[in-house]
Amino acid sequence: MRRSKLLVLVVGIALLLLACGDDASETAGDVETATPGPAAVRTPRTGGFGTAFDATERAFSLTARNINHYERQAFAEGKEVFEANWTPDGSLGFGGLGPNFDATACASCHHDDGRAAGPAGDGVLPTGLTVKLITDDPATINEYGRALSAFSENGDGEALVSVRYEEVAGSFDDGTPYSLRRPVYSVELYGDGSLPDETVIGVRIAPQLPGLGLLELVPDADIIALADPADLDGDGISGRLGAATDLLRGEPAVGRFGWNAEQPTVEQQSATALFNDMGLTSRYFPSADCDSWAPCVRVGQPLSTEYNVADYGDPNFGVQEPAGGEVTDRQLLDLAIYTQTLAVPAARDLGDPEVERGNELFAAIGCTSCHAGPFTTGTGPIQGLSKQVIQPYTDLLVHDMGLALGDQMLDGTPVATEWRTPPLWGIGLLETVSGHTTLLHDGRARDHEEAILWHDGEAAASAAAYRALPAADRAALIRFLESL
Ligand code: HEC
Ligand code: HEC
Repeated sequence: MRRSKLLVLVVGIALLLLACGDDASETAGDVETATPGPAAVRTPRTGGFGTAFDATERAFSLTARNINHYERQAFAEGKEVFEANWTPDGSLGFGGLGPNFDATACASCHHDDGRAAGPAGDGVLPTGLTVKLITDDPATINEYGRALSAFSENGDGEALVSVRYEEVAGSFDDGTPYSLRRPVYSVELYGDGSLPDETVIGVRIAPQLPGLGLLELVPDADIIALADPADLDGDGISGRLGAATDLLRGEPAVGRFGWNAEQPTVEQQSATALFNDMGLTSRYFPSADCDSWAPCVRVGQPLSTEYNVADYGDPNFGVQEPAGGEVTDRQLLDLAIYTQTLAVPAARDLGDPEVERGNELFAAIGCTSCHAGPFTTGTGPIQGLSKQVIQPYTDLLVHDMGLALGDQMLDGTPVATEWRTPPLWGIGLLETVSGHTTLLHDGRARDHEEAILWHDGEAAASAAAYRALPAADRAALIRFLESL
């Protein structure tokens, strides 16, 4: 992990000025005294000027506070598309669903823009968890595509995937015992197809969506500066760039989104969700064959580079269906702008001694090596997301987190899998918004502490340091996470 101390200092001072300069225009109570901590300068405004001060169940669903009139219009339209119930024949206004799908609406998995709950216990995976097929076998991809769908237009989908949990016992250094649950998956295919034993199945939970437009604008150079793939500084933490492809330009790109940082932009992630999760074609996936080895002819550029958001005044803008696509350019751009501009909820309880102690420990035991920041966003089409000082607590890099967190082959053999450091802003509000505290890529952790205890691989030293903390310090660190 390499980083310029000077940059941290400069950004820190900028944050301090930002927190103070704001005082006059905000209601009292919104802004806390900025206390420089070792982790980062403290401000509740982790999502820049667009940060929303609302810790209720709608905390993930507000627009960034500083977007303009046209962007608000796009947001409102996007919310409709996000919540729409798509059907095969369009009887409810939105058509083209299927033939295979996992859900009929974005909001079925990202309810209230929040995170789907992990499985409560053994049984069939609940909605909100998707099952990727990670394979190079052409026959498998031709038959099933890149994901196993739970439903099809005729009813049963491609497979029924279930989980069974095995308890894993451990203890803190002070002797206090704990118990984690390790998932073991089983796949029951419908129909007479079959899958080779070495097919890897990737179970992924739908994450919460605030702040994605800001993460999209973190300059590539700042992410590259944090990467240390060969671990040249010898701190045990490497961190690699997520490998993605910009589908429309056919070029490699820095991956940022998804649990493995495989998607470069919110727009492409949304088009992929429409296609993989709902069977809907668009400019990015103009035909159902895009899934197989058949070449997929894509025409055009990313929408955000083709359209000016001020076009939203024109009712005819982007409404023609692209060749072969079931989702119009306008609907896709609506969805992208909606998810880009969901506001980050403000951090809470700054100045509380236990929370501040937790913040110090978070840096002291190395959590900030990966859950990094602050960053200053670059410039994009949405002005309110540009040049914002943000504290997302992620380096947007992928890390080896140990074999126990890896995906599994069909026969249960674990495979090494690298995970993107998830942003932690808003994480303390999951219970309020989504009604649960299940964490990690497959929802196996039942609370914040279990998520930390699963950290291994590059994060092994950090997790060991957590296990060595006295109980009061462990509680302070958890309080800090709950304040985000
Ligand atoms: C069947 C459940 C499901 C549906 C329906 C669904 N998603 Fe997702 N969403 C997921 C999962 C699972 C992930 C994580 C994907 C991964 O890591 O590969 C995800 C990830 C995302 C992300 C990236 C978030 C991040 O932090 O990296 C965005 C943006 C997103 N979805 C938007 C949408 C939109 C827009 C729709 C509707 C078109 C949609 N999703 C429909 C399950 C779903
Ligand atoms: C080597 C990089 C690294 C270090 C160091 C690290 N983390 Fe993580 N953290 C990750 C990654 C990657 C994940 C996602 C793993 C997964 O989903 O399987 C994660 C997940 C989490 C989650 C769950 C987030 C979610 O959205 O589900 C929490 C909470 C968390 N880390 C807190 C911490 C704390 C506290 C520390 C310090 C004790 C720490 N992390 C140290 C990389 C790191």
